Amino acid sequence: MIRPADEAAIAEAARLLRAGELVGIPTETVYGLAGDATNADAIARLYAAKGRPPHNPLIIHFDSAEAAFRHGEANALAETLAKAFWPGPLTMVLAKRIDSPVVPAATAGLDTIGLRVPATPVAAKLFAAAGVPVAAPSANLSNQISPTTAQHVADGLGDKVALILDAGPCAVGVESTVVGVSGDRPVLLRPGGVSAEDIERVVGPLDRPEAGATITSPGMLKRHYAPATRVRLNATEVAADEALLAFGPALTGAKATANLSPARNLGEAAANLYAMLHALDRVDAAAIAVMPIPEDGLGRAINDRLRRAATAADESC
Ligand code: TXA
Ligand code: MG
Repeated sequence: MIRPADEAAIAEAARLLRAGELVGIPTETVYGLAGDATNADAIARLYAAKGRPPHNPLIIHFDSAEAAFRHGEANALAETLAKAFWPGPLTMVLAKRIDSPVVPAATAGLDTIGLRVPATPVAAKLFAAAGVPVAAPSANLSNQISPTTAQHVADGLGDKVALILDAGPCAVGVESTVVGVSGDRPVLLRPGGVSAEDIERVVGPLDRPEAGATITSPGMLKRHYAPATRVRLNATEVAADEALLAFGPALTGAKATANLSPARNLGEAAANLYAMLHALDRVDAAAIAVMPIPEDGLGRAINDRLRRAATAADESC
């Protein structure tokens, strides 16, 4: 089921994708649940496997900007962003081209399409070998924690995939930044692996919809990425029955502790985030207490995921 991502396994994964099967794939952000975006039956099974609501569109993956822009209308802004950040953890939402063979269900019937060119060589080789646009949401059940190892994928979706390609733990560890590029100003739809600051250095100010504003991207749903255990944010002390997710010098006295980055490095913290949430969720603690994390650079994506994880289930939408 899990296979090291060597040439033979990549070729097999490409064959499975073309045959309409679902495959677990590594990217630099998180592992994806991949399916052929031109195959309506594969896309229907992909939504079913995740328990994903049909109104939440998928990101479509390619091995080059040129291939991606065959499916979305590239404007000058999109070209600039592609040069600066592809391959890499950036997804652009563009007007979908009417001649794109990506099936409507993959984009939730929208007239826009989310395009991404991941930096992981295994992913690029797979997309080139498959020769089809590849839909790949994070390979977790809807509303659960995203996977950053092949084993996480096997634990959550093992019976739903034909094969999981293993290329080790994901280097970035949080999902791609999603930017809407179909208008004249870029809009930050989801903070992620490329910081908003880095994007603004290249294209100027991003529009940032306020939390609670009209949902322009279904990934902005309040509750998402949640462990089963309650999550308590900005902890400055910790109880003996709690698990601690530390950042910097750790508080003492917790039932169990995982440290995102003892040296307060946000890149290291992002890479550790989901694996440590997975691990602390298994401790059987009263809550996962999370120490404060600075709201800049990758800290924005980390805090975004933690806030969603902390939103009570009855507030989900
Ligand atoms: O890093 C990532 O992006 C990972 C890896 C596997 O590539 N994929 C991922 O996919 O996070 P998913 O399905 O878990 O999240 C896709 C996000 C959702 O927030 C979705 O609403 C948004 O992208 N999205 C996709 N297409 C869109 C569109 N046409 N308009 C607005 N938002 C879109
Ligand atoms: Mg996801």
